[in-house]
Amino acid sequence: MKVLGFESSCDETGVALVEARSEGQPRLLAEALHSQVDMHAAYGGVVPELASRDHIRRVLPLATQVLQQAGCTLADVDLVAYTRGPGLAGALLVGAGVAVALAAALGKPALGIHHLEGHLLSPFLADDAPQFPFVALLVSGGHTQLMAVAGVGRYELLGETIDDAAGEAFDKSAKLMGLGYPGGPALARLADQGDAQAFALPRPLLHSKDLDFSFAGLKTAVLTQHRKLGAVVTEQARADLAASTQAAIVDVLVAKSLKALKQTGLKRLVVAGGVGANLRLRAMLNAGTARIGAQVHYPPLALCTDNGAMIALAAALRWQHGLATLEHGGAFDVRPRWPLAEIS
Ligand code: KG4
Ligand code: ZN
Repeated sequence: MKVLGFESSCDETGVALVEARSEGQPRLLAEALHSQVDMHAAYGGVVPELASRDHIRRVLPLATQVLQQAGCTLADVDLVAYTRGPGLAGALLVGAGVAVALAAALGKPALGIHHLEGHLLSPFLADDAPQFPFVALLVSGGHTQLMAVAGVGRYELLGETIDDAAGEAFDKSAKLMGLGYPGGPALARLADQGDAQAFALPRPLLHSKDLDFSFAGLKTAVLTQHRKLGAVVTEQARADLAASTQAAIVDVLVAKSLKALKQTGLKRLVVAGGVGANLRLRAMLNAGTARIGAQVHYPPLALCTDNGAMIALAAALRWQHGLATLEHGGAFDVRPRWPLAEIS
């Protein structure tokens, strides 16, 4: 079974080909990605209409590239998967439209995938794939959630952010410090030169009993500190503020992840989503889980942020577990807002 997967929910066009047998680990045969970051950087954030138009330009050449890389043709494709939601409606429609049309033309089924399920299962593309059950920390630009994962399609929400997502906290703090878009990687780079203890920033909900997060207050505190630094701010002070901001976000993510392991009694943690690429987060989670005798798994670094491989993989795993509702031709829709709890 070869699955061609399309991801177009936001500002990355991703296409990948994954091979799966009825059991065993699915294998990534080829993948290609085009990031729109440079295009949106001029506007300080994602411009939805430009995103949709760029997906249209990129999606078919990327698909051709992936098939060539894998030494395959369209005739080898057994299933076409696409991100059905959540995400930008117009951007989702490009990937969904292309995928469903391609499947219909090939006489093969199409399968819509939940973007977060893609992230959640992406560590199965790593060499040290996790075993079920595990706790998943999903940290992207739009979501911050802790989940208990019993198996493919069996996800229980343990806690989530009540306001901004962790990625948003990185992005917004970076923006107000003039670091441009996307802010997460830029802020992390600057933080490397700084002192994480220089500024005392809040760690919202750090000691709350639940597993929820809140990052809106932190962003306000960063803004206040940045204003206090005044117009002639030294490069060292900026690096210190970046390091302190990163430490505050990471501390909360680590504490809540360890609390989730304790509360569920599970011994495995899986980290997915763009913020999972953050090296301080990885270092602190490695240390924290080692301390309590738990294991932590990540997707390969390049597959932390949005990509087509995670969509093809999620479709392959759903198919392996008998959970794929395969559509043949006909109508399709996208779900710009789609809680993970609603997938079956
Ligand atoms: O998963 P993703 O690519 O897209 C969404 O589904 O949202 O995540 C993007 C988010 C952005 O907020 C970006 O700033 C953040 O991930 N990010 C990082 C790093 N790399 C990406 N945040 C902190 N440190 C990083 N190294
Ligand atoms: Zn994502």
